[in-house]
Amino acid sequence: MPSQYHETYSAWQRDPERFFAEAAKEIDWFTPWDKVFDPEAGVYGHWFVGATCNMCYNALDRHVDGGRADQTALIYDSPLTGTKETYTYRQILDEVVALAAVIRAQGVEKGDRVIIYMPMVPQAAFAMLACARLGAIHSVVFGGFAAKELATRIDDARPKLIISASCGIEPTRIIDYKPLLDQAIDMATAKPARCIILQRAQKPCALTEGRDLDYRDSVEDARSAGTTVECVPVEAPDPLYVLYTSGTTGKPKGVVHDTGGLMVMMKWTMWNEFGVNPGEVFFCSSDVGWIVGHHYIVYGPLLHGATSILYEGKPVGTPDAGAYWRVIAEHGAVGLFTAPTAFRAIKKEDPEGRLVGDYDLSKLRTLFLAGERADPETIKWAENKLRVPVVDHWWQTESGAPISHNPVGLGMLPVKYGSPGMPMPGYDVQVVDDSGHPVPRGTLGNVVIKLPLPPGALPTLWQADERCREAYLAEFPGFYKTADAGFIDEDGYIFIMSRTDDIINVAGHRLSTGSMEEVVAEHPNVAECAVIGIADSLKGQVPLALVVLNAGVERDTAEIEREVVAMVRDRIGAVAALKQVIAIKRLPKTRSGKILRSTMQKVADREEWTMPATIDDPVIMDEISEAMGQRGLGGSGMAKAG
Ligand code: COA
Ligand code: AMP
Repeated sequence: MPSQYHETYSAWQRDPERFFAEAAKEIDWFTPWDKVFDPEAGVYGHWFVGATCNMCYNALDRHVDGGRADQTALIYDSPLTGTKETYTYRQILDEVVALAAVIRAQGVEKGDRVIIYMPMVPQAAFAMLACARLGAIHSVVFGGFAAKELATRIDDARPKLIISASCGIEPTRIIDYKPLLDQAIDMATAKPARCIILQRAQKPCALTEGRDLDYRDSVEDARSAGTTVECVPVEAPDPLYVLYTSGTTGKPKGVVHDTGGLMVMMKWTMWNEFGVNPGEVFFCSSDVGWIVGHHYIVYGPLLHGATSILYEGKPVGTPDAGAYWRVIAEHGAVGLFTAPTAFRAIKKEDPEGRLVGDYDLSKLRTLFLAGERADPETIKWAENKLRVPVVDHWWQTESGAPISHNPVGLGMLPVKYGSPGMPMPGYDVQVVDDSGHPVPRGTLGNVVIKLPLPPGALPTLWQADERCREAYLAEFPGFYKTADAGFIDEDGYIFIMSRTDDIINVAGHRLSTGSMEEVVAEHPNVAECAVIGIADSLKGQVPLALVVLNAGVERDTAEIEREVVAMVRDRIGAVAALKQVIAIKRLPKTRSGKILRSTMQKVADREEWTMPATIDDPVIMDEISEAMGQRGLGGSGMAKAG
């Protein structure tokens, strides 16, 4: 059957409001909207203004009332703890009502913030849904972030309550969450009155008297008391959650997602883009702490009446490179959504893909890759081994849904390796030069999106409308700046090549080199520094710190380098993956003092590079090449263009 993509996209172009009003029929609203879109509201407009609704109602109650009560909604599969559990829609609703009663009893009301700092356990999803039920705004903080990062988020979100767990589990170690939580609360000025702590059998913790409640005990008490908690109606544009993501400074951006528009977009994508039917099983291997986990582990599948897998494990090592195949086979997943880095890890361990043959993957229809550029080699390997279409698609924490995709439900378009597909309805994607002028097809430039953004995309940053305007809307008036560089080819396929800011993508995790520089610069022996993202065959990119030491420092340089690594791990978290630090004599700069980060990155990655005309002292590039060469990076004698 020919793809319906073009006619669907045209239908949106002809009448965007009609298109999304039609999509919105899939959601149960308490009261209808007055305006599908109000361009005067908020930073650039609001969707479904006047409507009231509730995410939890749409994700749980309506399925329980509508015949899916006994269908499995969530499968928790944790090779790290040897646990497998299933929860039906009815069971989750019972748990979420009880948890919502506990949260409400702590004084949390509509609009209040609740931080969720949890590992990959089902209770993380229950906590999100319980907040949604109360109209409280959740902010999930990825468990791999250190105390300082958590403290920054606490101070920005000012939560009444934090929900956490005693520990997280990585293959090589148990991560004690409680000390991290306590340190973060100590550091923060906006201290929450209460914490609810899930005790995990692998390592329980001591609760802080007067502050901490035991998750299971309090939920059990609320359940025995039979407390009911109805879904609180919220306005469609009211925030459902704030998810912090790397900005260009140490202060992360609190990306807000609204309630009504987000539900409409999530529901629409489940079939049209991901080709999943209600009742089918979907396996998204992200973490609930990232946008992909929010939307395709929790909200998307549940809104759709599907079954979602919450996987606490890795693609390799838990126990082997067949881990994903086991999960797909055992639970009958029709789709797998992961990051290309996971496939590179699997391919490295099992290059022949032998383990694929050990499992029955007959139900699997599609593999979805996102989060970073999918290199054609990885895509071809996956296609070859799994014998299903491999669909690269592009999006951001801010968009909340794919901006470009190869829409499976609408009917796939021919695959072009290296392209994450065509723009999805809602997205008028254009490529412009630095002055905002459109560039010809095939020419690399700034990828921008014509305003307004569609339902589901960020309406603003948490209590920072001005920062939102400045970060995304000011540079190219009338457009949203994605901060991605890329091009559109003659057939309209989008290619995303790199970021235009200091964000790097490490194993599918979005990190700011600027915020790493802030930490490195705090080392007492460091005079100045630059952190750049360099190519890595497994993680896509990894950070490299170049440090200039203060004059007169006579300590062992290797020791200082180790201390810098430890500082970044301690302040940002292991997930920053900064393992390489090189002490150099001077940093290359332009005459106006701008550090030439991209030139250094090209040298490290053995790419062709030109000596910038504005460089202050060209000899510095020789020093850098030599220092990198001694560490097996780039190196002296590399071909220079120009
Ligand atoms: N809590 C605490 N620490 C964490 C963590 C968490 N939730 N997640 C990762 N870390 C730690 C890791 O243990 C590691 O620590 P180490 O330096 O002591 O080894 C460090 O952070 C870096 O983690 P990561 O970059 O994930 O590397 P890894 O070597 O542990 O694993 C992969 C590499 C490729 C297997 C892993 O990144 C992966 O599974 N990626 C795919 C994720 C995915 O599917 N994303 C979908 C999003 S679209
Ligand atoms: P995040 O906000 O963590 O989802 O990261 C968003 C960024 O990841 C984007 O701005 C891109 O730079 C990158 N990204 C996500 N998906 C893709 C993709 N399919 N191809 C290329 N880059 C991607």
